[in-house]
Amino acid sequence: MSLQGDRTAEMFRRGQAALVNGVSSMFRYWGPDDTLVIDRGEGGHVYDMDGKRYIDYQLGFGPVILGHGHPKVVEAVADAAANGTTFAMTQRREIEAAEVIRKAIPWAEGIRFSNTGTEATMHSIRIARAYTGRDVVLKFEGQYHGVHDYLLFSTAGIDPEAFGSRYAPIAVQASSGIPEAIRSYVRTVPYNDLDALERVFRSHSEEIAAVIVEPMLGNAFGIMPQPGFLEGVRRICDEYGALLIFDEVKTGFRLALGGAQEYFGVTPDMAAYAKAMGNGFPVAAIAARGGALDAWAKGGIAQAGTYAGNGISTAAAYATVSELATGEPLRQVEKMGTALMDGIRQILADQGVEGSVLGVPGMFSIFLGQGEVKDIRDATRHDSVLYEEVLYGMIRRGVMPCPDALEPWFVCAAHTDEDVATTLQVFEEALVEARK
Ligand SMILES: Cc1ncc(COP(=O)(O)O)c(C=O)c1O
Repeated sequence: MSLQGDRTAEMFRRGQAALVNGVSSMFRYWGPDDTLVIDRGEGGHVYDMDGKRYIDYQLGFGPVILGHGHPKVVEAVADAAANGTTFAMTQRREIEAAEVIRKAIPWAEGIRFSNTGTEATMHSIRIARAYTGRDVVLKFEGQYHGVHDYLLFSTAGIDPEAFGSRYAPIAVQASSGIPEAIRSYVRTVPYNDLDALERVFRSHSEEIAAVIVEPMLGNAFGIMPQPGFLEGVRRICDEYGALLIFDEVKTGFRLALGGAQEYFGVTPDMAAYAKAMGNGFPVAAIAARGGALDAWAKGGIAQAGTYAGNGISTAAAYATVSELATGEPLRQVEKMGTALMDGIRQILADQGVEGSVLGVPGMFSIFLGQGEVKDIRDATRHDSVLYEEVLYGMIRRGVMPCPDALEPWFVCAAHTDEDVATTLQVFEEALVEARK
């Protein structure tokens, strides 16, 4: 049974004629009969072309932390739009936004804006390479750092069999079209495996410019760092003279106002922020401290963008981060997310389904399988067929997390107790139905 009502199906037919496969990002394509077309969003809900309402736990893959169409963000953006947005010069809103962001992430001694997470990670690794004079970047299996060639290796969704032995991991291109030569500039290791990390450093220490890490696996079940893991990564980077880059694109302004750096208490040399910083508007930031920042500021390292720091994005960032800084939105996210995580655990136990809920209240995932999950290699134990069946059952009933378990459920400050109660009821119904 298709997820599309008549009007949604008709609009998607037009979409397929106008856009490649009817989408602007491959992650949004759910097949010809199930790809939805959204008409509008409001708070914690979205509405498709048939006016069907969904409780939205995709939230645009994470950015919408305050809820869709938050009045303060809308007002700030409308004001910016009416006053011109792109000037080829620094503009007032850019400075105002940078000030509130610097307050939220005090470890960062300097930031600059870009537009997307992809740009922010790309620029971060260029600065790290330029500063250290080394070419190789180390990443962890299962992590996604955007769609540029340099880090699109060994992401979640690839069969972990292809990653080879954890003693000699193979970096696997996650797309056709990435030149084979790029592979020599990236090394991959399993997440949460400090021995594997140290082994690579021991044999390649002179080559490694930086380790880039999503502090928790925001693109792979929300797998959490084991106690001491991030501290260990920090120590190894220091020992071998490599920079530590946090990819805070999903965790920033969501795990805490100061993101994963504040939440886990480990401080990187550089970081990439995006998503929750702008409540759905395209804004990102590259943050740095110490020698990397000095090298960047001295010039000779290309970092640019026509729309970087534009009026609309920075107005959105200023309004969003100022609102988050009151503390109230993240308290609500914590409350709603905790109720969802606890409720789902209880339902799994009541129904006798083996599984666990991973992550934190603001972004969590459901792993349907036995045992502890420490890295993406453990994902082979997940029952993705059952999960997808449950999720499609939920979406039919008007509750919409991403149907791929790798992608966390995102919670926003506009979700309500009623949303949580409906979600848990629908989860249980869909689970019971899927297991029949
Ligand atoms: C951790 C992480 N880094 C980088 C990116 C890329 O961000 P963008 O899609 O804005 O380019 C994403 C996107 O989901 C992400 O989750």
